[in-house]
Amino acid sequence: MRVMIVGGGGREHALAWKVTQSPLVDEVFCVPGNAGTAAIARNIPADAADIPGIVSLAQEHRIDLTIVGPEAPLAKGLSNALQSEGLAVFGPTKDAARIESSKVFAKNLMAEYAIPTASYWVFDDFRNAISFVDEKGLPVVIKADGLAAGKGAFVCRTDDDVDEALRKTLVEERLGDAGKRILVEECLVGQEASVVVITDGETVLPLPSSEDHKQLLDGDRGPNTGGMGAFSPTEAIDDALQERVVREIMLPAIRGLKEQGIDYRGALYAGLMIVDGDPYVLEFNCRFGDPETQATLPRVKGDLVPVLLAAADGSLKGMKIDLEDNHCVCVTLASKGYPGRYERGLEIQGLSECEHLDNVIVFHAGTKTTKGSVITAGGRVLGVTAIGATKKDALQRVYDAVDRIDFQGKYFRRDIGMRSSY
Ligand code: AMP
Ligand code: GLY
Repeated sequence: MRVMIVGGGGREHALAWKVTQSPLVDEVFCVPGNAGTAAIARNIPADAADIPGIVSLAQEHRIDLTIVGPEAPLAKGLSNALQSEGLAVFGPTKDAARIESSKVFAKNLMAEYAIPTASYWVFDDFRNAISFVDEKGLPVVIKADGLAAGKGAFVCRTDDDVDEALRKTLVEERLGDAGKRILVEECLVGQEASVVVITDGETVLPLPSSEDHKQLLDGDRGPNTGGMGAFSPTEAIDDALQERVVREIMLPAIRGLKEQGIDYRGALYAGLMIVDGDPYVLEFNCRFGDPETQATLPRVKGDLVPVLLAAADGSLKGMKIDLEDNHCVCVTLASKGYPGRYERGLEIQGLSECEHLDNVIVFHAGTKTTKGSVITAGGRVLGVTAIGATKKDALQRVYDAVDRIDFQGKYFRRDIGMRSSY
């Protein structure tokens, strides 16, 4: 069969890496992909957000399954467009993707189906919001309702933080339409972790638990980024808690959507805060996590393609996802200046040396190939990933590999998987 993967980051390279290992798969296309996917699949230089363009590509290349990586095309209705042409797609429809594309929608769903989450209040007016926060007291979390590429949540500890967050969103509209409506949330204190499930709208199969490191600097300081690294499993979620997350969060969300006439098919990601042993939802995403996918797919035993196909066509019942009993750590190598301005086009050295290392996989994110060399083409450049029998073992391997790769201005965190809470 022929598979198309939409997107061009580290998550999509990890998906391509897993899918190309399937005996069912003859050919994999990545749109647009990166230098890493080009080595194992066929890249097509098209825009992942061009919905009619992607549908034409799926028809032209007789694609049997399209897997959508990022949220933007899902929120724009790529799955609907593919389905209406009779094409199989892994990824929710536009209505179902609202669980990520509207935080107000997600919060209302959680309230309706008693899914544990922080208390919340919705505002579209600066004065009302500020006087509410004055009365409520600090800290609070202010969030833009719409998609903001990870830049829409503000943890506010001072009046100045509140003022800045509300001005940015409601007054200056720096997040555009996404910030015209905001949520004020109660601030939860605990340990963050992620659980992703694959679902066909009925059955829910969890992938291994994981934890990411969103902040730029060691010690979880500095600005938020798209993700500086991830590891799996996380100590924050044992088997019993994972089962609770499925029972108390994932199944009620999927069933609640179904009650509203929405059939959710694809990956559902819950960003969680574990407070005194109890899981609360911070956010839902309508897709696989990045970089969590790089740290979880290498732990999935065997072929994932039958599961992805079954999720797409509604026949997941009776299937399972088996896991390796190991640990995986992914360290992001970023460009100097990221998440602000950074240079592109810098040559990357040491990649071929890493190909020969045992239990190491270098997932590409912002890379491309020119004249035979691989160069940087984004803020997050590579996700260097290693597997080990223990986390310590995986950490040793991953940082050994990180040291062998170089490009001008290479930046990475030295403490992935080493939070002091463990
Ligand atoms: P989100 O985009 O909703 O995942 O929020 C981004 C980050 O803000 C999360 O990873 C948390 O670190 C933090 N955060 C979001 N909501 C809350 C909350 N209610 N309480 C505490 N921290 C939060
Ligand atoms: N790693 C967080 C996300 O994928 O949204």
